[in-house]
Amino acid sequence: MANVTNYNFAGKKALVRVDFNVPLNEQGQITDDTRIRGALPTLKKILADGGALIIMSHMGKPKGKVNPKLSLGQIADAVAAALGTPVKFAPDCAKAGAAAAALKPGEVLLLENLRYYPEEEGKPVGIDKADPGYDEAKKEMKARQKEFAKTLASYADCYVNDAFGTAHRKHASTAVVADFFGTDDKMVGLLMEKELTAVDNVLNNIQRPFVAIMGGSKVSSKIGIIENLLGKVDRLILCGGMTYTFAKAHGGEIGNSIVELDKLDVALGVEEMAKKNGVELVLGSDSVCCTGYDFGTFSVKPGAEIKVFPSNAIEEGWDGLDAGPESREKFAKAIEGAKTILWNGPAGCFECEEFTAGSRAVGEAVAEATVEGAFSLIGGGDSVACVNKFGLADKVSYISTGGGALLEAIEGKILPGVAAIKGE
Ligand code: 3PG
Repeated sequence: MANVTNYNFAGKKALVRVDFNVPLNEQGQITDDTRIRGALPTLKKILADGGALIIMSHMGKPKGKVNPKLSLGQIADAVAAALGTPVKFAPDCAKAGAAAAALKPGEVLLLENLRYYPEEEGKPVGIDKADPGYDEAKKEMKARQKEFAKTLASYADCYVNDAFGTAHRKHASTAVVADFFGTDDKMVGLLMEKELTAVDNVLNNIQRPFVAIMGGSKVSSKIGIIENLLGKVDRLILCGGMTYTFAKAHGGEIGNSIVELDKLDVALGVEEMAKKNGVELVLGSDSVCCTGYDFGTFSVKPGAEIKVFPSNAIEEGWDGLDAGPESREKFAKAIEGAKTILWNGPAGCFECEEFTAGSRAVGEAVAEATVEGAFSLIGGGDSVACVNKFGLADKVSYISTGGGALLEAIEGKILPGVAAIKGE
């Protein structure tokens, strides 16, 4: 099977799918370039060999329509600076044939947002799944998707998928396009390889004790991975907004805290499964609460109060927003001595200074365990933002560029972006 290290890109045009879906501020400036830096080894290897680069990505969810706020043109200069070479921009990804053909060795062309075309995602537009003509519309869109992928493939001699963050999507540029290249001319990129090795470390190459920390607000969005992890970990810390669904499931008072009332049985099921599997489930016992938090601006409203409550005895009018001191100690203790660590999702509303302590305690414990020899994998935008914010990025083993893709990989699902190349 071809791979980037051994492949000689000299004189070839390489179509490289990256995940440059990077966060931008109101001025269109990149606020976190982790994903661009992540793709550099692959991109630079191709250029160093004497190849030409055609870089393609999506940004956001424009839903098949042109949306200047999601234009990849905004990041062309940053990509050029990172690569140390000029970057040409193709303002229409499906009409870039001439620009691609004119590329000389060492030159770079960045295509406009692939998702300006509905064909990229391949979902029928303007028709509901329940509508009578849906199946026909889907078939038609799939055919259009194939044509779109064929157009992209026509720009190049070989295809590299280095977009781990989007590898869980079966889209034209992540999967379908691979069918238009022979086995010897398609490969996963160096970032993708690194990400898959990191996933393998926490799925198949586990050093024990294995501790997973799952945060975030909803049990429902994490239940697949939680169930999968309950078959693998020794300890599972559940923190963040999920805490209150568990507290409520036991009849606790949670004030105004976030809760999924229709998932109380799911929470109890998780506890049951943990018991059955001999997994130590660690939940926060106290919470830092507030009477007026603005979720839009991540700030405490003027005059609002902050106080610690037991997580199952929060008074009406108070909102649990972070792990309290007792919970933080529990979490740190549970992480101590771990040899494999997975962290996904913050322990509180870390964007606001008053509620960073929980996530900071988790991050610092993970960093300490890593110094003691643990392999630590951090994934998901918010936990990555945490380690960056707390200056811990160099103190953990691996920071994934994937959010949903990482979760699906750890759930044990086959990633279509990888399968399209490796034929799994
Ligand atoms: C991400 O940010 O998780 C990836 O870029 C995938 O984006 P998507 O969820 O819009 O497919």
